[in-house]
Amino acid sequence: MRHLMSPLDFTIQELDQLFDLANDIEKNMAKYAHACAGKILATCFYEPSTRTRLSFESAMLSLGGSVLGFSDAGSSSAAKGESVSDTIRTVSCYADICAMRHPKEGAPMVAATKSTIPVINAGDGGHQHPTQTLTDLLTIRSLTGTIGNFTIGLCGDLKFGRTVHSLINALVRYEGIKFIFISPEELKVPDYITDMLKEKNIPYEEVIRLENIMPELDFLYMTRVQRERFFNEEDYVRLKDFYILDKAKMELAKKDMLVLHPLPRVNEISVEVDDDPRAAYFRQVQYGVYVRMALILTLLEIHVD
Ligand code: NCD
Repeated sequence: MRHLMSPLDFTIQELDQLFDLANDIEKNMAKYAHACAGKILATCFYEPSTRTRLSFESAMLSLGGSVLGFSDAGSSSAAKGESVSDTIRTVSCYADICAMRHPKEGAPMVAATKSTIPVINAGDGGHQHPTQTLTDLLTIRSLTGTIGNFTIGLCGDLKFGRTVHSLINALVRYEGIKFIFISPEELKVPDYITDMLKEKNIPYEEVIRLENIMPELDFLYMTRVQRERFFNEEDYVRLKDFYILDKAKMELAKKDMLVLHPLPRVNEISVEVDDDPRAAYFRQVQYGVYVRMALILTLLEIHVD
């Protein structure tokens, strides 16, 4: 039985197969409409979510399966003091596969060790968010035909943003990628990531101003400042509007640069950018459903001819 804790749990070849499957699903939804009939997905969310939880549910329903779960730790037995290990043992009796989001780094991993069904990490604290990374990679591959040989700017909260950490981890396995980290001093990417890049001889730059490097970018991955992971509100208020991507900044970018964002957006992308053909963040949301459909089929070892 396989779980998904990190994007590195799949080889590059396995990821390609997963993305091929997601693209086939996109083209032939009807073919997959009953693939998971009789199967149940549990969504155990101890932290807020819109896209991740609903896209998992939408994915399972589109495969003909059913869903159950909770979207708030306060409405689960966690509020009574139940451990994640005991919760997953219970959920294993009710469902065939589980997507779990938790504020504590490593909690889905602990669950996986006690689970008798596949567990998917749907975000653990500031650590990893592998299904967002699968979504990001599928978006890049579907919109440009390949993954590799590009410069990507990651902008915003690079310290606490788990989508950023997961995406960097996944991209280092592809050829010819250069990273530009754009953040205020206080929200720089953690040392363990830059140490890993140095060790692998992967080029990266750290800058504060977004304007200067805009013309170099093939992708701009915007992120929100992660308010819930700050220790004090004052720092959050000081940093939250540090970057605002607007029309004027988009004019500095390449004609075919793509803007990605895991969403939710707060203020970091002005709504006036939404109509720019380079704004790919809502298309990214749609790819999130296809890739989760492909993931559910893969982990449940269901093949559709
Ligand atoms: C992200 C997350 O939860 O880490 N959201 C998502 O799942 N698309 C990004 C965020 O909350 O900023």
